[in-house]
Amino acid sequence: MIECRDLTKKYGELFAVDRLSLKLEPGDVYGFIGPNGSGKTTTMRMLATLLNPSWGEATVCGHSIYTGSKEIRRAIGYMPDAFGVYDDMKVGEYLEFFAAAYRIQGEARKKKVQQVLEYVDLVYKRDALVTSLSRGMTQRLGLARTLLHDPQVLLLDEPASGLDPRARIEMRELIKRLRRESKTIMLSSHILPELADICNKLGIIERGKLLFNGTVAEAEEQVRKVRGGYIFRVAVADRNEEAAKKLSACSEVASAAVDAKLGVVRVALKPGYDDGSFIPERLIADRFKLRTFEEEKIDIEDVFLTITKGITS
Ligand SMILES: Nc1ncnc2c1ncn2[C@@H]1O[C@H](COP(=O)(O)OP(=O)(O)OP(=O)(O)O)[C@@H](O)[C@H]1O
Ligand SMILES: [Mg+2]
Repeated sequence: MIECRDLTKKYGELFAVDRLSLKLEPGDVYGFIGPNGSGKTTTMRMLATLLNPSWGEATVCGHSIYTGSKEIRRAIGYMPDAFGVYDDMKVGEYLEFFAAAYRIQGEARKKKVQQVLEYVDLVYKRDALVTSLSRGMTQRLGLARTLLHDPQVLLLDEPASGLDPRARIEMRELIKRLRRESKTIMLSSHILPELADICNKLGIIERGKLLFNGTVAEAEEQVRKVRGGYIFRVAVADRNEEAAKKLSACSEVASAAVDAKLGVVRVALKPGYDDGSFIPERLIADRFKLRTFEEEKIDIEDVFLTITKGITS
């Protein structure tokens, strides 16, 4: 649905986007993550045919961004990171205005506007001025606007930025719903955990370069590699120190040490070992009272730090 090869944007000497290559299949939800100024918006604007690349190629829904801008604009919904100001325009009028721009006419237009308002739960604000909406409502209105022409591909630039925790959750639920409708979605954020459970693929961009591009599982695997292997957390009643000593002596274990803050023993397995079930087995056999046992979760923050550290340093 989206494919880039060596897509590059230069501003003077600055490579805002530097030979970016990626591919999104139908139904993919791609989390595009990077700090401020890393090139997310620039990439999305090129894909939306709003900005010309310096070189490189990209196709969206099979159309080249150089020759197929008309087809691409019809096929995608682009939600920019900032909206223009529309004084004196009511929510309903705003959507009517954009629906008209997509040449949706008459009854169909009314129906469509109602439908997208329901989708983002803004029916009750139809007659409110756009400028009177809260930040969260404005973002939802922006999403409604991108859905008017029923696009297959959505490019959402920081849809959750500036939202409070509750509004973030609502925005995520909306995106999950779009995913269930099999839309192909690229969404950017500089906040990682936000994307973990809604994306199947991740791209990590820094200073215009894509440092990582792959599935969430592949990202986790990479962190495991850098960490050196699987890490488990185990806790027993009263005798964590003793348990750590015992586990250190096991042939599968690279290291085992008490983490006082967490109140657990962190057990790192040697490379090549992935099964930690011997840990509780041996502790129980030695009459330790097992309290907890789990694989240490790799959170997406770790992924980002590991990957960016591994490559930029
Ligand atoms: N019109 C422009 N002229 C010159 N430089 C620009 C222009 N637009 C963007 N840049 C530069 O390109 C780089 C990438 O910017 P971009 O807006 O794509 O980053 P971003 O990842 O979207 O950041 P943010 O998280 O802040 O939205 C930045 O260094 C920015 O200053
Ligand atoms: Mg941006």
